[in-house]
Amino acid sequence: MNLRALLNDRFSQAFEKATGEALSPQIQLSGKPEFGDYQANGAMAAAKALQRKPRDIAEQVVAAAEVDDLAAKLEVAGPGFINVHLKPEFLSQALADAPIATATEAQRVVVDYSSPNLAKDMHVGHLRSTIIGDAIVRILEALGHDVIRQNHVGDWGTQFGMLIVYLDESGEDSRELADLETFYRASKQRFDSDKAFAERARQRVVALQAGEPETRALWQRFIEISLSHCQETYDRLGVTLTRDDVMAESAYNDDLPGVVADLKARDLLTTSDGAQCVFLDEFTGKDGKPQPLIVQKSDGGYLYATTDLAAVRYRVRTLDADRALYSTDARQAFHFRQIFAVAAAAGFTGNRISLEHQPFGAMLGRDGK
Ligand code: ARG
Repeated sequence: MNLRALLNDRFSQAFEKATGEALSPQIQLSGKPEFGDYQANGAMAAAKALQRKPRDIAEQVVAAAEVDDLAAKLEVAGPGFINVHLKPEFLSQALADAPIATATEAQRVVVDYSSPNLAKDMHVGHLRSTIIGDAIVRILEALGHDVIRQNHVGDWGTQFGMLIVYLDESGEDSRELADLETFYRASKQRFDSDKAFAERARQRVVALQAGEPETRALWQRFIEISLSHCQETYDRLGVTLTRDDVMAESAYNDDLPGVVADLKARDLLTTSDGAQCVFLDEFTGKDGKPQPLIVQKSDGGYLYATTDLAAVRYRVRTLDADRALYSTDARQAFHFRQIFAVAAAAGFTGNRISLEHQPFGAMLGRDGK
């Protein structure tokens, strides 16, 4: 439906009723919200033609207008402008009925969003990625694209050693786990205050990474509970993510040695303080010194960045995507610039995929932090 044409019809009738003449209502979009959504500015020209006061004509047009179905309020302003405030219900229905110009070429688009870290409860910061990402998904699907949701949850890393040991030692009936936040805090407190516990936690990370079955089983239990909490939040928000969209960091574990080997084969690796790093000329820090992307620590451990490189490869090779969009806050902008550049230099992008970070701002407390 063309709103302007509809208003033009209705107000043409009202002008004719009010003046006995066929006159143009001169419908325009309002310049400011306080002037409503549209304006009918025909009263001034009508007044000239009819030798009458424009405000009088405007008042009569308002009285004659039959717009109850679409307007919440009409008001006469200034010399004889008629401000039209549309009803929200009418506007939302008009939007729902509006035809969408679908994309001429459908693309396969990966949208990486929400992606909370499973060690803790999903935190308010992740709501931004969740909601912005889901809005992007819906828009792209409405445009006819083939969208693949990827919930790149953080389910791997050193803090899991601590959580697993705490879960293990707190006994089978760990009702506390229902409240992840409390559980996390309690285990962290123990980790910081008890040296022997901290050592057991570190050993547990090694066991987890080595795939030791009992440790894996405890970890799995923890992840399951954490993911079901996330799903409750998604359902409550009406967000379209499901369990099938989870592609966790741990899913890339087996690919990480291959990622590092490929970087080496491309002659992109430099050993710096025992760590495996990629230095690209375009990345320098504030001091002008080159800023490496570290892909393997001196102890052999892999990092967030290594997993993201593996994820790029997977999105190109397995998902066959034309585009990948990443919804995180702006503090990760540098990380993604490095990932995208290193992935291109290493040939992981297949010269095909467009990698795009879609950053948003930080959520600050009253103290500005
Ligand atoms: N888990 C990360 C965080 O909370 C976000 C992951 C975003 N996606 C990605 N592929 N790095 O900061």
